[in-house]
Amino acid sequence: MSNKLIFELSSDGRTGYRFPDLDVPAAPLEESVSTSLLRNSKPELPEVSEVDIIRHYTSLAKRNFGVDAGFYPLGSCTMKYNPKINEDVGGFSGFTSIHPLQSEESVQGYLEMLYETIKSLSEITGMKWGTLQPYAGAHGEFTGMKLFKSYFKKKGDKKRTKILVPTSAHGTNPASARISGFQVEEITADERGLVSIENLKEHLSDEVAGIMLTNPNTLGLFEKDIIEIARLVHEAGGLLYYDGANMNAIMGKVRPGDMGFDVIHLNLHKTMSTPHGGGGPGAGPVFVSDRLIDFLPAPDVGKDGDRYYFDYDKPHTMGRVSGFYGNMAVLVRAYTYIITMGSDGLQKASEYAVLNANYLKEKLKTTYHLYYDTVCMHEFVLSAKKMKEEFGISALDIAKGLLDYGVHPPTIYFPLIVPEAMMIEPTETESKETLDSFVDAMLEIYKTAKENPEILHEAPLNTAVRRVDEVLAAKHPILKWKPE
Ligand SMILES: Cc1ncc(COP(=O)(O)O)c(C=O)c1O
Repeated sequence: MSNKLIFELSSDGRTGYRFPDLDVPAAPLEESVSTSLLRNSKPELPEVSEVDIIRHYTSLAKRNFGVDAGFYPLGSCTMKYNPKINEDVGGFSGFTSIHPLQSEESVQGYLEMLYETIKSLSEITGMKWGTLQPYAGAHGEFTGMKLFKSYFKKKGDKKRTKILVPTSAHGTNPASARISGFQVEEITADERGLVSIENLKEHLSDEVAGIMLTNPNTLGLFEKDIIEIARLVHEAGGLLYYDGANMNAIMGKVRPGDMGFDVIHLNLHKTMSTPHGGGGPGAGPVFVSDRLIDFLPAPDVGKDGDRYYFDYDKPHTMGRVSGFYGNMAVLVRAYTYIITMGSDGLQKASEYAVLNANYLKEKLKTTYHLYYDTVCMHEFVLSAKKMKEEFGISALDIAKGLLDYGVHPPTIYFPLIVPEAMMIEPTETESKETLDSFVDAMLEIYKTAKENPEILHEAPLNTAVRRVDEVLAAKHPILKWKPE
């Protein structure tokens, strides 16, 4: 594979195109373009042949890693396989050729798809109704926090300015609460890795607007006391927000609505197998209980007899959170997944996600330190703390080592409450053979850590780019070629 930049492949005068001969009189450039816009020198673009450019981009494409390329156990992110039928349906011209300003009469099929998606997801989550407008999980969280605000505003309750967030929460939870104007207070975890009821009780007051939780939590553990938590928060006058990022573990088994939640967002790019590219744009629809239905963003999607329409008649709405109506291309793919899987299929998906995670956990826990040694849901967290103390090998070294085995590393250093955390989520579609080869890779890495730790400090050894400075690469990436 060539490591050369396209500019380095350039050779003066080489082209990858040939235009047909001109069959009309040539118009002088000065007559068609204002001279002030004409450049004085040739642009410095690479000059390459067609085969050069094809090889260049093919070699770049081969360096991409995705679920279609290999195992991707990135905990919390649920990098699950996206069935190709989602792409087929997403590509239907009836969906790709419509315009957001078309009349409702001409897009009845599209409106029906939106309506049915809200209906199905409301049923799956046990909520009353929802909106498909938000573009990501964090956007859904922001919408949810604004729903809380609208609710307390209508009640005339100005005192409730605090949101409680467990220590294991995803960083977007406190950030969304804060950006919506709430103060954030942290609730500690107990020795089980679950919300400490004692600590929760100490924080509840008439200043608390609510709590943000994910269940299973980010340690992959089911919050067994959720009914009690919901009772305590509601009795104190607060609301419950459910971060639906971990819904992949419980579809068809238990519903956030039945657990007592008032608002939930779903990350369709996790649970409903839609594309996940580069952090968005995705879809983070929000669903609500009876209490909050009047405040949902406008427009809503309504049905009158056989006719579907956008409903703007919502006097208490929190306002809109999307320019038109959400990320249609992603919503169609999620709807396709729901109807092709059916309720049995979704339930099976969660069962296999949990089974696969427990299989890996049991295989790895005798070698790696399992922080909370209990049955997990769809993911679990190992800690490299002891390996760091004994062999000087960190979670980062293990993650880099895995790259040499053609595996995407797990999420590392999250959740924050586990030192040297490695959060592994295999997802439901992986075969036993794939899981076993991951176990083999992890066991070999452990052996290397013990016998030849310097190899892991150098890893990855077989990738196009070796160990990069993570902070510099994220904050100051060099994405532009400059002539010398
Ligand atoms: C538990 C949890 N909550 C919230 C989010 C935020 O979702 P998004 O990336 O769609 O904004 C994530 C994303 O990974 C997550 O894992």
